[in-house]
Amino acid sequence: MKILIATDKPFAPDAVKAIRQVFDNAGMETVLLEKYTEKSQLLDAVKDVQAIIIRSDIIDAEVLDAAKALKIVVRAGAGYDNVDLDAATAHKVVVMNTPGQNSNAVAELALGLMVYAVRNFFDGSSGSELLGKKLGIHAYGNVGRNVARIAKGFGMEIYAYDAFCPAEVIENDGVKALSSAEALYETCQFVSLHIPATDETKNSINHALLSKMPKKAVLINTARKEVINEAELVNLMEERTGFKYLTDIMPKNHEEMVAKFPNRYFSTPKKMGAQTAEANNNAGIAAAKQIVDFLVNGNTKFQVN
Ligand SMILES: NC(=O)c1ccc[n+]([C@@H]2O[C@H](COP(=O)([O-])OP(=O)(O)OC[C@H]3O[C@@H](n4cnc5c(N)ncnc54)[C@H](O)[C@@H]3O)[C@@H](O)[C@H]2O)c1
Repeated sequence: MKILIATDKPFAPDAVKAIRQVFDNAGMETVLLEKYTEKSQLLDAVKDVQAIIIRSDIIDAEVLDAAKALKIVVRAGAGYDNVDLDAATAHKVVVMNTPGQNSNAVAELALGLMVYAVRNFFDGSSGSELLGKKLGIHAYGNVGRNVARIAKGFGMEIYAYDAFCPAEVIENDGVKALSSAEALYETCQFVSLHIPATDETKNSINHALLSKMPKKAVLINTARKEVINEAELVNLMEERTGFKYLTDIMPKNHEEMVAKFPNRYFSTPKKMGAQTAEANNNAGIAAAKQIVDFLVNGNTKFQVN
C-alpha cells in the first residue's frame, strides 16, 4: 500500500515523522509531495497511491481521474470544501476529515482576535475588557465548544446558536442556547463565527443579520470567508462606525477594507487558526490513523461523502 502526503502548505517536520511512523508500523509506504507549484505534479503523484492525506489542497474530478488506485482521501483538518465530494463518490473514493484535532488552536486565535479588537489593535489607546460582555457563538461544533470553554475564563456571558446541535448539549456546558441566528446577533455585542461553508450558510452573514447587533459590535470570523456577504459588510461598517470585523480568512475585498476601516478591520495575512505545532501534529496523525483503520479494518467513522 502506498500513501501520499500531498501538502502545498507542508506539515511541520515532526508531524511528517509521526505520520510516517503510523504508516511504517502498518507496513505501508509513505510518499511526500510538498510545496508543489503545478497541478501536474499532484496529478503525477496520485497515479499509483491508495490513500492521500491533504490539507487545503484541491482534490477535484481531474485529480480523482488520475488516481486510478485511490480508495481514500483524508483532509487533515475540519473543513473539506476543497474536495469535490460528488466526484469522489462517483469514483468510489471515501473522503474523511479529522474533526476536532485543531479546534483548540482555532478557538485560542478567536479569543486572541477578540482581545486585539477591544484593545484597539494594540495602538496604545485605552480599550475595554471582555469580562461580563455577551459573546454569541454561531455554531456550537468542535471549535465553538472550545471558544465557550476559553471565554468562560474571561468571565464572558456566553450564548450559542446551532442549527443542529441540541439545546441540552449547549446548556450542559453552562452556555445559553438561542433558537435562531437573529436572536444571537440581537443579544450579543461579540459574535464568533463557527459555521461551515454550505449552500445554506454562504453569504448568510449579511447586512440584515449584522445590523441587529448591539453598539460597539465585534464580529470574529475564524470559519470561512464564503459565509460573509462582503459587499453588505462594507455597507454596514460604513453606516455603523463602531462596528469591528476581525478575520482569519482574508476576504476578496481586503484592500478595500484596509483602506476604508484601518482601525476596525483586521485580517491575518494567511489563514493561521490551525497553524500551531500541536494542531499540525494532531490532525496529521489522526489522518494517518484513520487511513490505516479504513484500509485494514474498513472503519468509515469519519466519512463525509
Ligand atoms: N481558521 C482556521 O484555520 C480553521 C481551522 C479549522 C476549522 N475552521 C473552520 O471553522 C468552522 C468550524 O469548524 P468545526 O471544527 O467547529 O466544525 P464542526 O463540524 O465541528 O461544527 C460545525 C457546526 O456548525 C453547525 N452548523 C452547520 N450548519 C449550520 C447552520 N446553517 N447554522 C448554524 N449552525 C450550523 C453544525 O451543527 C456543527 O455543530 C468551519 O467553517 C471550519 O471550516 C477554520
